[in-house]
Amino acid sequence: MAVENPNTVDTSQKIGSLLLKNPIITASGTFGYTNEYEEFMELKSIGGIVTKGITLNPRQGNPQPRIKEVHGGLINSIGLENIGIQAFIEKKLPVLKENNINFIVNIAGESPEEYKKIASICQENEINAIEMNLSCPNVDKGCLEFGKDEESLYKLVLEVRKVFRGALIVKLGSNVSYPEKIAIAVQNAGADAISAINTVKAMHVNINKNYKGFKFIKGGLSGQSIKPLALNFIYEIKKHTNIPIIGMGGISNLNDMLEFFAVGSDAIQIGTGTFTHPNLSEKLAFKLENFMKVNGYNNLQALIHSLRTEDMNKNGND
Ligand SMILES: Cc1cc2nc3c(=O)[nH]c(=O)nc-3n(C[C@H](O)[C@H](O)[C@H](O)COP(=O)(O)O)c2cc1C
Repeated sequence: MAVENPNTVDTSQKIGSLLLKNPIITASGTFGYTNEYEEFMELKSIGGIVTKGITLNPRQGNPQPRIKEVHGGLINSIGLENIGIQAFIEKKLPVLKENNINFIVNIAGESPEEYKKIASICQENEINAIEMNLSCPNVDKGCLEFGKDEESLYKLVLEVRKVFRGALIVKLGSNVSYPEKIAIAVQNAGADAISAINTVKAMHVNINKNYKGFKFIKGGLSGQSIKPLALNFIYEIKKHTNIPIIGMGGISNLNDMLEFFAVGSDAIQIGTGTFTHPNLSEKLAFKLENFMKVNGYNNLQALIHSLRTEDMNKNGND
C-alpha cells in the first residue's frame, strides 16, 4: 500500500535463498567475471551481478567478427568464450568473495552431464546461486537444444537440482514454441526462479558494393529491439508459474524496468544497456529508490503489486 513520502524504502528482493539489496542485477556476458566495472560504479549499489557464462572446459568462442551494432541493439556471436570452471574457481571466485560481491554464476554445458558436473563444482565451492543458460543461440552443441523441449529440460533441471542446493535460476529464451510448457517444466523440476529472455536468433546482412553477393553475421540480438518480445514472454509464463521471474531484454530506463515488473518480473537484469552507459544499473537503482520515495511505496512488493493491477482495456493505446 502506498504511504506518504517515506524517508526510507525497502527495495530488497528474495530469489530463492538469495537475498538482493534491490532487484537490479547485471546480465551474463555483459559485465565480466567479477569487479571489472568497479571503475565505473559502486558494485554494492545493485542487487548483484551474473558472471560471464562458464563452461566445464575453457572455450575460445567463435571467430571474429562476432559483434555488430544494429538498429535498436546488438547482434553477438561470442560463442561462450570463457576460462572454464576450474580457472574460474581458482582465479575469479576469490575476487568475488574478497570484494563481498553478491553474484550468480552463469553456467552452460554441451551435455546434461556437463551441467551436472559444473553445478556440483559450484556446490563444493559454496557458491550461493547459479543461473543455467539453456538458451544461448550462439553455440553448436547443448544449451539452446535443452531449453526447447520440456521433457529433456525437466530431466536436466531435476538432475542439477539434486546436486546444487543454492538458488537455482534457469535462463530461458524466446526461441521456443510453447513458453508456458517450458516454464512449467522448470518449476516442476524444482528451480527457484526463471530468468528470461536470452538473445534472439538474428542476422545482419551487408550487400557487396557491386551488388554481387553479400556478407553477413548471424548471432543473438539483444537491446531495445527485443524488449516487446521479452515483455510478452514474461507475461505468458507468469500466467502459468508462481516461482520468481527475473526479466531482461532491452531495459535502459526506469520506465522499462517498471514495465517488466508489471508483466510479472520480480527482479530484472541489465545487459546491452551497460555497453552504452557502464553505470546504468547503479543509476537505475538510485532511480527506483527515488521513485518509490516520491510515490509513497515503502517496499518493493507494494510497488510491484500496484503495477500488476491489469488495465481491463487490454488492447487500448497509451
Ligand atoms: C555480448 C553478449 C554476451 C552474452 N553472453 C551471455 C552468456 O554468456 N550467457 C548468457 O546466459 N547470456 C548471455 N548474453 C545474454 C544476456 O545476458 C541477456 O540475456 C540478453 O542480452 C538480453 O538482455 P539485454 O537486451 O539487456 O542485453 C549475452 C549478451 C551479450 C550482448
